Amino acid sequence: MTRLSVNINKIATIRNARGGNIPDVHKAAIECERYGADGITVHPRPDERHITYEDVRIIRPDIKTEFNIEGYPSDKFISLVCEVKPHQVTLVPDPPDVLTSNAGWDTVRHASFLKNIIDIFKGHGIRTSIFIDTDIAKIEAAIKTGCDRLELYTEPYASGFQSDPEKAIGPFIRAAEAARDLGLDLNAGHDLNLDNLKYFSKNIPWLKEVSIGHALISDALYYGLQNTIGMYKRLLVK
Ligand code: PXP
Repeated sequence: MTRLSVNINKIATIRNARGGNIPDVHKAAIECERYGADGITVHPRPDERHITYEDVRIIRPDIKTEFNIEGYPSDKFISLVCEVKPHQVTLVPDPPDVLTSNAGWDTVRHASFLKNIIDIFKGHGIRTSIFIDTDIAKIEAAIKTGCDRLELYTEPYASGFQSDPEKAIGPFIRAAEAARDLGLDLNAGHDLNLDNLKYFSKNIPWLKEVSIGHALISDALYYGLQNTIGMYKRLLVK
């Protein structure tokens, strides 16, 4: 079964709007696990406008499922990841001021940069994943970095899904097959939601994990966190 990792950044964004500790991000992470999430994802950005570095340190010891930290590998980020030792680190090529992740790595251009960083994380026993687009050349180049997994950037799938699901999924199936042929495990994330998730996971049944934040936390406003996590999990059942 494809695992559901809940990205809790949006909960921190609501808290940060007021200062104080409502909603409690640490409690939310524990509740997500209790309601069936298979993992928790956090994305500390350089300006800490969502989840903070301190949140990551506080949450880490209480995560019983899989802890995934994603972000741009700045020196500060690398130190944090090596300190808290998540199960998985997902490398994202975000410029510091970007609103949200908006592209995958150019693994052809940045192969040696990525390899050096991945070597550091491997030395700490942390599984590594690279956020990537569906370009086959970039998927093939990723193997040179020594990463364990790829996370497909699914925004183009999500934006094409409404008008033509078959057309939207095509490049993702081809990319997923290329990754599988290279022996790379596969994650996916960005803009997945209750409408488009089932079709994606049904077409790529060897997908290991999806990480979902924005839509899931928004749906929780209407359905409650527990129901919402159950709804997403049911879409991942084969
Ligand atoms: N994967 C990566 C690498 C991301 O940066 C994000 C957004 O922080 C997600 C997945 C989750 O995207 P969404 O919030 O749209 O579900």
